[in-house]
Amino acid sequence: MMINSQAKQKKALIIGISGQDGSYLTELLLRKNYQIHGIVRRSSSLNTARLDSIYSNARIRNQNFDLDYGDLTDTNSIYKLLMKVQPDEVYNLGAQSHVRISFEVPEYTVDTVGLGTLRILEAIRDLGLKSKFYQASSSEMFGSAPAPQHERTPFRPRSPYGAAKVLAYHLTVNYREAYRIFACNGILFNHESPRRGENFVTRKITRGIASILAKKESKLYLGNLDAKRDWGFAKEYVQAMWLMLQQTKPDDFVIATGETHTVREFLELAFELVGLNWKRYVKIDPQYYRPTEVDVLLGDASKAKKKLGWEPKVKFKELVAIMLNADLKNAGIDLQVGSTKSEDIM
Ligand code: NAP
Ligand code: GDD
Repeated sequence: MMINSQAKQKKALIIGISGQDGSYLTELLLRKNYQIHGIVRRSSSLNTARLDSIYSNARIRNQNFDLDYGDLTDTNSIYKLLMKVQPDEVYNLGAQSHVRISFEVPEYTVDTVGLGTLRILEAIRDLGLKSKFYQASSSEMFGSAPAPQHERTPFRPRSPYGAAKVLAYHLTVNYREAYRIFACNGILFNHESPRRGENFVTRKITRGIASILAKKESKLYLGNLDAKRDWGFAKEYVQAMWLMLQQTKPDDFVIATGETHTVREFLELAFELVGLNWKRYVKIDPQYYRPTEVDVLLGDASKAKKKLGWEPKVKFKELVAIMLNADLKNAGIDLQVGSTKSEDIM
């Protein structure tokens, strides 16, 4: 019997490759010997900082890694790139992903998040591609639904972003049922890292502390400290995305740590780790309040544990230390806090 030891190299198309998750997913898939095609949108200043070193390392190793311009609001660009790449797997991570900003630009948010997902699914269907599809669904869809939230918890979104993600979620399920597309929703709870966008609360806090210690800032301005979030580590969450597309049947999965903490707890712990009292530095600025808030997110990821064998290792305390250490290093401060077990944390 002949055994073909050379498995076919898979092609992945990543939309939203320049974001936090896009960069970690790219590293994961390059380690798995995928050919990577990423879609970046044009901006007046460079938006590929998270990818630059990954891109040059891939080039040095002769790995296939291509970036093309495209935009989720531009049907033509999505259609053409799917036709050109004919990927085995499509990861839709692209979004206007900031919840408070979605109240300011609701139409644009629904266009990228909701219609953008439709544009990809329609192109896959129309082109007759066999591509497997991953949709970056969000715990923000649960909104005011009681905790703990799991795959059968009804959605009660509290923002234009949350509502747009609910639309994208249902389109993904519908295209799976109607056209037999291998389409999965990963319902990911908040996940953070040293690569987290600077205007999300965790990174704002760890960066703010580094700036205070570096004497560049004297105060940190925040909004609602009472909201509770289930915060995990992004690098572990992208493994769950890949696992979903390796199953025999498409399905939807909650990905979470099963722990919830207030913003105040994050703040207290982070300041405590550098020996400061947060109350002396933090001011509340109502501009950061949201018209409607999501009070408590707490995920039950038991289905992912059972079916994907996925479980998070990094929990709250370690996550705070990982992020703080990275921002202290970025600010040139010679201080290492907490104990971080995970190797290669960046
Ligand atoms: P992120 O850092 O904000 O990255 C979003 C990506 O989408 C960026 O590459 C961004 O490009 C791109 N993008 C924005 N508008 C676009 C458009 N019109 N066309 C094409 N690309 C566009 O978000 P993330 O934290 O990596 O999250 C990845 C995905 O998971 C997002 O869909 C997010 O909504 C969802 N999600 C995130 C979390 C979380 O806690 N991080 C939890 C649940 C779900 P630029 O770099 O040019 O801005
Ligand atoms: N951004 C921000 N800035 N949030 C603040 C601030 C502040 O200055 N002060 C308090 N918060 C509170 C927010 O009101 C919210 O309750 C909580 O901190 C977390 O806010 P974010 O870090 O902006 O994250 P999010 O939970 O709204 O949304 C993130 O997680 C979703 C998954 O639940 C984003 O990554 C979404 O894209 C993702 O879908």
